Amino acid sequence: MPTTTWNRHHILSLADFTAAEYNTVLQTAASFQEVLSRRTKKVPTLQGQVVANLFFESSTRTRSSFELAAKRLSADTLNFAAATSSMTKGETILDTAKTYLAMGTDIMVVRHREAGVPNAIAAEMDRLGVKVSVLNAGDGQHEHPSQALLDLFTITTLIDPASPRLELLKGKKIAIVGDILHSRVARSNIWSLIASGAEVHLAAPPTLLPKLFAEYILEEAGVKNQQFIISSSPTHHSPLPTPQLFLHWQLEPALQNADFVMTLRLQKERMTDHLLPSLREYHQLFGITRTKLQLCKPNVKVLHPGPVNRGVEISSELMDDPEFSLIQSQVTSGVAVRMALLYLIGSSKV
Ligand code: NCD
Repeated sequence: MPTTTWNRHHILSLADFTAAEYNTVLQTAASFQEVLSRRTKKVPTLQGQVVANLFFESSTRTRSSFELAAKRLSADTLNFAAATSSMTKGETILDTAKTYLAMGTDIMVVRHREAGVPNAIAAEMDRLGVKVSVLNAGDGQHEHPSQALLDLFTITTLIDPASPRLELLKGKKIAIVGDILHSRVARSNIWSLIASGAEVHLAAPPTLLPKLFAEYILEEAGVKNQQFIISSSPTHHSPLPTPQLFLHWQLEPALQNADFVMTLRLQKERMTDHLLPSLREYHQLFGITRTKLQLCKPNVKVLHPGPVNRGVEISSELMDDPEFSLIQSQVTSGVAVRMALLYLIGSSKV
């Protein structure tokens, strides 16, 4: 493992992650990737520690990936699923967390459909003065740090497998396309990609990328006003020196010469209004296909956090095309990255 100091006790958001922290995660994940390529894929690092997966919302890959990561580190794992728990009898979230605390849990991995739940549990653990760490596995429309970190790992290892690091993305053009309004994945990715020095282009119809959202991001990131450009025309010329975050209400300017395209699921369960005329029209305008990728750099790669609505945000054939699609390697990277996160907070000295 790289010899670094890690001072973060909870991982709740990437908004205040430092370049050193990103690089520590990337290097640690690379070491675990190597462990996972061995015949014996297990290390004793977290032996005796308890990792509880508190998933108050559905999940396939994030939950399984955290569980496998914990097991590969030799931790004992507990899995909680809201639908089959005492929450159906009226138990509160904090009481559920305290139940797991009483069983000796060291790390709580928390997912909830409301933003802020992992923060609330972390605050309660701190108030109680216990050394339990909380890892946000996706909270409402807020953040999904481990997903953005595994995306970062996937693309930086592609560029330099031996030494993935943040600066490899400096100057790269990365398009994030789709349901940005409802996406915690997009929010976390915006922080990590801005920190890397990449040029981040968000593309969505105005209903899924409202101006107010831009102002919110702007305020949160403390990014200077002039770094934001909203373009609704296919060709836009930036008069500004080093813009880093662009918003587009059309797909083409975001794809033009892009190195990576991150597609997002249309989060139908979070749409309360009729934000789109039809899925077919959405696919025509914003769905990523092999033909549309011709606007990008020739060796462009496509990511998607999953689960995918095939034929909506990405064409089915592109999703399965190993020449362009990194979707399977994102899932694979997820285990190494989550091992790194569990290891770093599990052995943090705070
Ligand atoms: C994402 C999530 O749940 O936020 N998926 C994931 O964790 N792999 C994205 C989504 O649900 O669209």
